[in-house]
Amino acid sequence: MSTHPNASGLDQPPPARTMSRRRLLAAMVGSAVAVGAGVWASRKWAKPIPGGAVMNPRLFTFVGGETGTWSVLQIKAVVGETLPDVKRLDILNTTVPALPDAAKWRLHGVTSNERYATRAEKDLLVAKQAALGRPGATHAALIPIRKNAKWWGLTQDERRGIFEDRSHHVKTGLKYLPAIARRLHHCRDLGENEPFDFLTLFDYAEADSAAFEDMVAELRASEEWKFVDREVDIRLVREGV
Ligand code: HEM
Repeated sequence: MSTHPNASGLDQPPPARTMSRRRLLAAMVGSAVAVGAGVWASRKWAKPIPGGAVMNPRLFTFVGGETGTWSVLQIKAVVGETLPDVKRLDILNTTVPALPDAAKWRLHGVTSNERYATRAEKDLLVAKQAALGRPGATHAALIPIRKNAKWWGLTQDERRGIFEDRSHHVKTGLKYLPAIARRLHHCRDLGENEPFDFLTLFDYAEADSAAFEDMVAELRASEEWKFVDREVDIRLVREGV
């Protein structure tokens, strides 16, 4: 039987209501083999699959288990339910239709267009930001986040007001570029039972660990974080190249 991540992020048999959507997704992605290319598995091309469909090249899967490039240092619940402890994290630029042997959880997310950044902010980000996977970036954090119903009930302009005008998310983050590299994955529209709304991923050199802590603390103290009702902080390390 196929499995389905429930609200806790663990794999469970799918609820009847979402089964057909899962099957459709499985049909679309076929039996795509999970292949990781390089540290961040960044594969830029769309992979054709049997039946003529094309796998979404923006889809990433994070598998917590016994294999993968990253050793897990710590999994800590910041708010809400945690995820089970695992030894390693694998990051795959594809879907993973079933939970691999010995893995305890998997999370899916897609990269997407910006919702909140203005042109001026985007230009500043593009000018300063680094890509994930630099040789010296031996430390990483995967921070899955869910926001509450109140947040999702707001309008776009109300959310932008909280996100930037009052919480200064971009202004704060910009201070830490290019030391910290990041990638944001959206999960909310993948299905009804996704355990998180976002999977946020960062990497940095060991020397920038303290700066990363400062940044996370600053953001968590902001008004935006009052709407976060589940957040798990997963810290990772790998050998330098
Ligand atoms: C490296 C510093 C950071 C920068 C430059 C940065 C920048 C951004 C930008 C520009 C967006 C908005 C994208 C859009 O317009 O849709 C965003 C969204 C987001 N960021 Fe950050 N960020 C940083 C650090 C963090 C950290 C440390 C976390 C988590 C602990 C985080 C969590 C999020 C989340 C959850 C969203 C989605 C918000 C939403 O759509 O409701 N960011 N970030």
